Amino acid sequence: MQPANTLLAPSILSADFTKLAESIALAEKAGADWMHCDVMDGHFVPNITFGPFIIKAIAQCTNLVIDTHLMISDPDTYIADFIQAGSNQITVHQETCAHLHRSVQLIKSLGAKAGVSINPGTPVSTLEAILPDLDLVLLMSVNPGFGGQKFIPSSYVKLRKLDEMRNAMNPEMILAVDGGVTVDNAQDLVSAGADALIAGTAFFKADNPAEAAGKIKSASR
Ligand code: DX5
Ligand code: ZN
Repeated sequence: MQPANTLLAPSILSADFTKLAESIALAEKAGADWMHCDVMDGHFVPNITFGPFIIKAIAQCTNLVIDTHLMISDPDTYIADFIQAGSNQITVHQETCAHLHRSVQLIKSLGAKAGVSINPGTPVSTLEAILPDLDLVLLMSVNPGFGGQKFIPSSYVKLRKLDEMRNAMNPEMILAVDGGVTVDNAQDLVSAGADALIAGTAFFKADNPAEAAGKIKSASR
């Protein structure tokens, strides 16, 4: 269901990995709703992060929703492992799924919420057929692979289109934006249709993460 307040999902990618449990506690205390976990394989994206082993450790530290973003080729092979590890939501990339409907059904059949993400260069129309089946869409507003990149402004047009599409086809679906989110663009993103904002740098690298979280979460329609 679409939330009343803006959902905040700090991306663990920008946290201090020598202090994982403390970083998660910081996010919890700051009012985070989800813990966003960026899984990268060095194949679909030019970076490698972590797999189910680390997700399991993160899930053991928190009751926050574990929101797993799979930036990996052939995600179907690993979906069960990530859900077993404690992921509550799994988002796959449209660009990596030859049989997107099958991937989404697989996620749902294993009891997790299903999301699909699209890269900045992928048109929103590629989601038209699958949208009624989704719990969330994760709109990439940077090219995936790294935290700390600059927001791509053309994402607003895509966000507004997606908002229209979901209002027509699946009003309960959550619209999340990932990449280059800041305290300064949070309100514009929510006004354009975002329900959930992923924030790596803007949260974990802020001088005052709790204050940054408060500002991002206070964005409203
Ligand atoms: C990028 C990841 C993002 C990233 C966001 O490939 O999917 O989730 O961690 O980081 P910031 O908020 O720093 O752009
Ligand atoms: Zn992400």
